[in-house]
Amino acid sequence: MSLEYTKTLVLLCVFMVCITSTVVGSEEKQEEAVEGEGGDCADFSSTSWRQYREQGVRQQVQYLLLTRRNMDCAQMFNQESLDTQPSYFNTSHPTKVIIHGFRALGSKPSWGKELAQALLRVQDVNVLVVDWVYGASFAYNLVVDKYKEVALQISVLINQLQEHGCKLESFHFIGVSLGAHVAGFVGTLFEGKIGRITGLDPAGPMFKRANTFDRLDPSDAQFVDAIHTDSDYFGISIPVGHVDFFLNGGKDQEGCTRSRFSTILVYIPVYGYVICDHMRALHVYMSALNGSCPLKGIPCSSYEDFKRGQCVDCGVFKGTCPTIGLSENSGLTTSPLPKEQKLFLLTSSSPPFCAHHILLQLEVSPLDRSAEVEVTLRTESQRTVKTFRLRTSTTSYTAVLAHPVPLCQIASIEMKNTGARFYRQGDIHLKSVCLSEFPSLRREDPLCVNNINVRRGSLWSHDFVQVCGVF
Ligand SMILES: *[C@@H]1O[C@H](CO)[C@@H](O)[C@H](O)[C@H]1NC(C)=O
Ligand SMILES: *[C@@H]1O[C@H](CO)[C@@H](O)[C@H](O)[C@H]1NC(C)=O
Repeated sequence: MSLEYTKTLVLLCVFMVCITSTVVGSEEKQEEAVEGEGGDCADFSSTSWRQYREQGVRQQVQYLLLTRRNMDCAQMFNQESLDTQPSYFNTSHPTKVIIHGFRALGSKPSWGKELAQALLRVQDVNVLVVDWVYGASFAYNLVVDKYKEVALQISVLINQLQEHGCKLESFHFIGVSLGAHVAGFVGTLFEGKIGRITGLDPAGPMFKRANTFDRLDPSDAQFVDAIHTDSDYFGISIPVGHVDFFLNGGKDQEGCTRSRFSTILVYIPVYGYVICDHMRALHVYMSALNGSCPLKGIPCSSYEDFKRGQCVDCGVFKGTCPTIGLSENSGLTTSPLPKEQKLFLLTSSSPPFCAHHILLQLEVSPLDRSAEVEVTLRTESQRTVKTFRLRTSTTSYTAVLAHPVPLCQIASIEMKNTGARFYRQGDIHLKSVCLSEFPSLRREDPLCVNNINVRRGSLWSHDFVQVCGVF
């Protein structure tokens, strides 16, 4: 693990130094071409390694405004916009503030507009996209030194907007990576009176051991939610909000392949791999805004307990598990609000990322030696496989599986006695195998099959006859 970590860092450094000049150069050419067609729409700034070295570190923060009246064409926005020129900003609407993070290549965050549009499709708000590409580029440790200055500049703008009638509680900051800590510091400057901060995989390096004054924490806004997807590399591993969603345990995401670094000379794919886990938080959030399917987090003290099926309901939240997205307090109705509440959920590898949580429970008769059984759930088109290692000391086993379709669409279950290679594994006798889905408001009975003999060398299977939505 640590070897891989070191490799990644080394690779990233090499990558940043060698490649920025060439890649950024070519990207800029593309962007110029696009600008020619784009008319008067405002866009992010971008910077090159050459500019950066020549001009030194120059802090430059600007704002792009998108509203329902200009969803496709951002307008520059600044302190004077409300006084001097016609602006789409409507002071009686709530305001979303999007803050990007570290830009290794000095390039524009291409997702800024997409996130703004996803927000606008759901709510009639002002969306301000903070552009601090210039300060956020190239050297991570220098960037970390500067994030508070960015927060300070943003707070000046918020003060101005307050003078025009905007209420502090009507602001919702959405910060990606380092941007989450920028939002957290804005929150600190306003003593936690900002309405909401959402952190999308808040940055980990140099922040995990920082005190709460320096990083995002629940005291920064009336409600703070965070999504964690890469807490072993670029994300933070500790909870930082009222609720913290750890996707698939918060470290490694489905579909972000564990590269073997065989393609060290092909830089771009490797960089894509390195940030795939980290950027997943943003993509899941955008997908949740689209409302394709609910992404609910289940409260649990650890991912290990969650995977073992120890947490299968909404616990203290009385039947309402927190949901990723815009609903107030993530849909929580209980008070007081929790703090640093860890929530776990499994996702699939592609949009809309939702998976059904299927709890698989085996009751085994006492064995005289350890054994192994492979369980396969089948639907019309997919199969999900889970292998259990059975031990003499235990008779009940549980596991949680991410399943693409709900329980009611599971057509069959199969079991294979995949015994040890060096001695004969006998038949395995199971008292029962049960399947249930959680969290579930309707308390459905689990699907169970009792008294099963899984014989060595032959496949056991059982078909379920069920219809969705009929009770
Ligand atoms: C601002 O929003 C309010 C409330 O939605 C609306 O009544 C008003 O017309 C809007 N102002 C402008 C200039 O669009
Ligand atoms: C959200 O919906 C829009 C429009 O239907 C689509 O273009 C976009 O790709 C979707 N985004 C995600 C992340 O699913």
